[in-house]
Amino acid sequence: MAQKETISGFSKFTPMEKVQWVQDEFGLPSEYAAVLASHLHPDKELQSLYNEFSENTVSAFHLPFGLAPNFKINGKWFVVPMAIEESSVVAAVSNAAKFWAGHGGFNAQVEKPIKTGQVHFQWTGQPDFLKELFRQKRTFLIRSLDPLTASMQNRGGGISDISLVDLTGTLSDYYQLHTEFGTGDAMGANFINTVLEALAVKWQAVVKEAVVDQNRTGELMIVMSILSNFTPGSRVKATVETDVRSFDSFDPKLSGLAFAEKFVRATEIAHHDISRAVTHNKGIFNGIDAVVIATGNDFRAVEACGHAYAARQGSYCSLSRAEISGNVFRFELELPMSVGSVGGLTSLHPLARASLKILQDPGAEELMMIIASTGLASNFSAIRSLITGGIQQGHMKMHLSNILRQLGADEEQRNSAMDYFSNRTVSYADVRKFISDTK
Ligand code: MEV
Repeated sequence: MAQKETISGFSKFTPMEKVQWVQDEFGLPSEYAAVLASHLHPDKELQSLYNEFSENTVSAFHLPFGLAPNFKINGKWFVVPMAIEESSVVAAVSNAAKFWAGHGGFNAQVEKPIKTGQVHFQWTGQPDFLKELFRQKRTFLIRSLDPLTASMQNRGGGISDISLVDLTGTLSDYYQLHTEFGTGDAMGANFINTVLEALAVKWQAVVKEAVVDQNRTGELMIVMSILSNFTPGSRVKATVETDVRSFDSFDPKLSGLAFAEKFVRATEIAHHDISRAVTHNKGIFNGIDAVVIATGNDFRAVEACGHAYAARQGSYCSLSRAEISGNVFRFELELPMSVGSVGGLTSLHPLARASLKILQDPGAEELMMIIASTGLASNFSAIRSLITGGIQQGHMKMHLSNILRQLGADEEQRNSAMDYFSNRTVSYADVRKFISDTK
């Protein structure tokens, strides 16, 4: 069965009608309709709130929401909420947080967050005319946007700069109004896009009028006005450091110094080899995304920005680095990101609000530091496992637990399987055989 023609008015259907339509058109077995329905929130008001976040909502997709305790960041304690489906990440992050809390904790700092957006346009006339006109009208343009920026200015933000960028060397007739913003504790995407669209209209009118008044030729076409998710001016850095002897008990085969040296080597490899760099950074984003999601922020924006930053020198490399100086091991993560602790989903989603409460209502800058510290903790744990016993040890325990759940094992079968597989390789087939043999 397959859809025969385009459907119009799908968005007007009720959730039940939408599912029914999929069932009819694609032969969706009815039990899946029941699965979708059973995952709707029992509180109708809450579900209707979630429905409004997106379109064509027919169910709710649940992610585990966990807590990672023992984070000491700049001397302050935090319990970090994490929304993530991958087993072992919360446990690994919590382990690292506990270890580092006993070794000075995380140190973090933020560069004053600068957000940017661009009005991308085409101008076919004289570049010098455009540049002189922009020079004369720059302040007027900024002031003309005051009605839109006034309340953000009251919160310490607004437009901090606009410049005209001539990119005709890379693409014919292509220019930008590159605009810098402060957005206080908000991520500010809507604010930036609203201001940029208004700026584009003003700029077009200014140019049109000047062309007529000064009897010039040339046409200006606005191509698009949009924020940039690449925010290299909005960087956060998280660092941990300790005497290498702190690692003496990590692995019976490695002294603390040998562990630290192997760890540094692992980060160097991630700096030089793209295959490793991507996986290394994925381990960082295991921590970062989980907090970004739990706090109702935009993880796609944070990911895109982080990966672009990892490739800023022309080749993709590790976002973290480690070094040993004397006896001191130092591990650091630096990346740009744009997150908010007010506005958007952070205020609307009850769990995002709860996360921010658990984090003691941080401002955007403190939230960036918490997120980066969680990313560093996740990265530390992953590398620690990789260079000692390997990651499968920890993963397999959770993997086994998931398989046992899928197979509907009871308490006794679970315990004996955990025992049996504690020193054996876990595979679905072997676990299924073990369970059926013990029935
Ligand atoms: C798995 O989700 C993440 C790791 O692969 C990260 C890494 O290799 O550094 C363990």
